[in-house]
Amino acid sequence: MHQVASSSSEQYERARQTVATFLGAAADEIVFTRGATESLNLLAQGLASSIEAGEGLVVTRLEHHSNILPWQRLCMSRGAHLHWLEVEASTGNLDLVQLRALLASGGVRLVAVTGLSNVLGIMPQVAEVIRLAHEAGAWVVVDAAQLVAHAPIDVRALDCDALVLSGHKLYGPTGIGVLYARRDLLRQLEPWQVGGGMVQTVTETSFTPLAAPAGLEAGTPPIAEAVGLAAAIHWLSQIGWGALLAHEASLMTALEEAVRSLGHVQVLGPKLSSHRRGCLSFTADDVHPHDLSQLLGDQGVCVRAGHHCAQPLHAALGVTGSVRASVCVGTTQEDVETFRRITADVLLHWRRRLA
Ligand SMILES: Cc1ncc(COP(=O)(O)O)c(C=O)c1O
Repeated sequence: MHQVASSSSEQYERARQTVATFLGAAADEIVFTRGATESLNLLAQGLASSIEAGEGLVVTRLEHHSNILPWQRLCMSRGAHLHWLEVEASTGNLDLVQLRALLASGGVRLVAVTGLSNVLGIMPQVAEVIRLAHEAGAWVVVDAAQLVAHAPIDVRALDCDALVLSGHKLYGPTGIGVLYARRDLLRQLEPWQVGGGMVQTVTETSFTPLAAPAGLEAGTPPIAEAVGLAAAIHWLSQIGWGALLAHEASLMTALEEAVRSLGHVQVLGPKLSSHRRGCLSFTADDVHPHDLSQLLGDQGVCVRAGHHCAQPLHAALGVTGSVRASVCVGTTQEDVETFRRITADVLLHWRRRLA
């Protein structure tokens, strides 16, 4: 093999080891994908043939569409039931009484739960969900797309069966994601894409796939993206979780105070600011979320408006959309104050025009 080609392969495999170490996994339990969405689709399609008609899958009310639709489609194609695990409005906690009842009714094969809500900024009781699901013999897949930049993850300590993330949520490039799955589960997955790179032998009538992870990575791998993701992980590790979490906790307290101080706004989810990480979402009386985000954008304040790919959650909260404000490593207390000042000003002018 040419030196350049072997160096690329080495760097790609080194990136896999970096991700594995970051998550507390082994390198052969890490599959590179295009993002969390692709990871979840790979998992759902790879498991499809193990799900029988009449069995159940559970998704929570907090989920991003990417951790709903693959399971919804799997249930439709296999004649399985999709159950919704509800959230207690006042605390944002998942209803574990309901989960126990669902698991006790039998036939639940998998629970899909987010590690951190991309709307409410709260972390559901994932460890407890995993414990209960395992007692009932069900797998648990954790959507860590939002969590990964806001809390350290150790898949062994968490004891999840699978976990997904996206590179761009971790200060890395777009177009790269990760599927972690326990080795024995990964080996059970049927390749969802076939072609070059994933195969051992090919004849005119059949083929033998390579073992995972290679067997689940058809086509030319995302080498540059994987190396970029590893670089982001090294960068984040240099900052360290202690500094990062302390920085973010003080920003989130300030952000929540800032939003609540605006008046005539409702922060979605529970009232306890200490439970939030990374983002919070709110609605403002008399102003559509898209109008507010547009007006803020005109002033250089970047927020996101809409359902944030979580329509079932917004429907349960009785709203069609919200405005989401986020913090990250680079956010400062001055940024939060600027956000508060400009948002207060924009709302004042809007309401004066309406009056
Ligand atoms: C909680 C959560 N899950 C899944 C996704 C999907 O990630 P991607 O679009 O990178 O595949 C996102 C992206 O916003 C997310 O926030």
